[in-house]
Formats: sequence, structure tokens, C-alpha cells
Amino acid sequence: MKLIVANWKSHKTDKEGVEWFQELETLLNTNPITLEKIRENQIRVVVCPPFPLLPLLHPLAQPLGIFLGAQNISSHEEGSFTGEVPTLIIADMCQYVIVGHSERRALFHETDADIGKKVTLALEQRIEPIVCVRNEEDIIPPHASIVAYEPVAAIGTGNNMRPEEVVAVKETLLLSQKALFLYGGSVDPENASSYLAHQQIDGLLIGSASLDPYQFYTILREA
Ligand code: PGA
Repeated sequence: MKLIVANWKSHKTDKEGVEWFQELETLLNTNPITLEKIRENQIRVVVCPPFPLLPLLHPLAQPLGIFLGAQNISSHEEGSFTGEVPTLIIADMCQYVIVGHSERRALFHETDADIGKKVTLALEQRIEPIVCVRNEEDIIPPHASIVAYEPVAAIGTGNNMRPEEVVAVKETLLLSQKALFLYGGSVDPENASSYLAHQQIDGLLIGSASLDPYQFYTILREA
């Protein structure tokens, strides 16, 4: 099984989000083999849109066998935390949540302690956290079952790290044996297959190339 995660970041209005799913569906309908692989979970596809799009996209994702994820979650439970979105509110729509993305660590000062709390809260609601780490110094919470290695220099720059180097870094991370290991950082339709071919890389976390349904579809076709 390969896990392919789309991280839309702060992109797409509701109209654009709906159109993306409609276009992806049209493309998948031309390729029954890939659609079947998604529905049978040989390829697990997770799309992480901005929070307000979740209820709108949920009914479009489900028939295609695509799961939704959030890009972040509050480190607090439900309560008086203005502007925060707790796990409880998204639990019906999301099977996954990205936790500790390097942009959140750098721009919003998220710490390993915050990330640990988010992982615990997500798991309590049966949401699978996808924990992002930038290097071997970032702490991986003990119950993290999906870890995405995203070297900062590779994110949004076109300087993707070579698969052999990614696998070498994997060896240095303190991953539990069962944890899935993803790579993210300038993955695109041209380089995706070199990661997907590696047995030690369980999937991809894709930013820019996930915004265009055709590019994302092309990556799914490689999986
Ligand atoms: P990118 O982003 O694919 O645009 O490099 C990846 C990410 O930030 O998750």
C-alpha cells in the first residue's frame, strides 16, 4: 500500500475545491485500474484542504475512495480557545491530520511538546496523525504511526532530495517498526515514481503538485 497525501495549504476557494474533485474524478474515470487501486486501498489517497472546505468536499471524496485530512489541529480540547479547531469538530470528516509541518513550526512557533499533545488528541478521536519532521532532531511522539520526512530546503523549491538520501535519513530516525514513512519536498509528476519504487518509502506528502488535479492524477497513476 502506498499513501499519497495532498497538502493544499492555504489555497483554494470552495468553488476551486469542488472543481478539483470533479476534474480528478473525470481523470480517474479514464483510468479504471488506478481508480480500482484507490477503492481497494492499494493506493490510499488523503486530501488535506483548508478547514472550511471539509464539509463540502467530504461527499465528493467518499465515492472515489479518497479520505480527507486536516492540515493542523488544536493542541487543546473543546473549550474557550478562540480561533482554534479541536479534533472533536473534524472527527466525522477527517481520518487524518498533518501535525508539525515545518511551516507551522517556523511561522507559528509550534514546539515538539505541542506536537506531542496534538498527536495524543488526534488518536483519542481515532484520527491518524501524519507527523512531519525536518531532520533527526525533531522528536517523533511514541504513538506516531505515520511520519513524513520533509527537509526544509526541499519544500517548495524544486530541490527534491534524492530517494537514496531520503532512505539514508530514514535509518537515522527513531521510527517504530510499524510506522509508515513518507517523503515530502518538491515531489512532482516527473520524480514521484523514483520514490514510489522504493520499498522503504511508503508514500508521499505533496504540496504544490497537488494543487493541479492533472499533476496529482499523474502521480497517482505512478503509484
Ligand atoms: P511541496 O510542499 O510539495 O510544494 O514542496 C510539500 C509540503 O510542504 O508538504
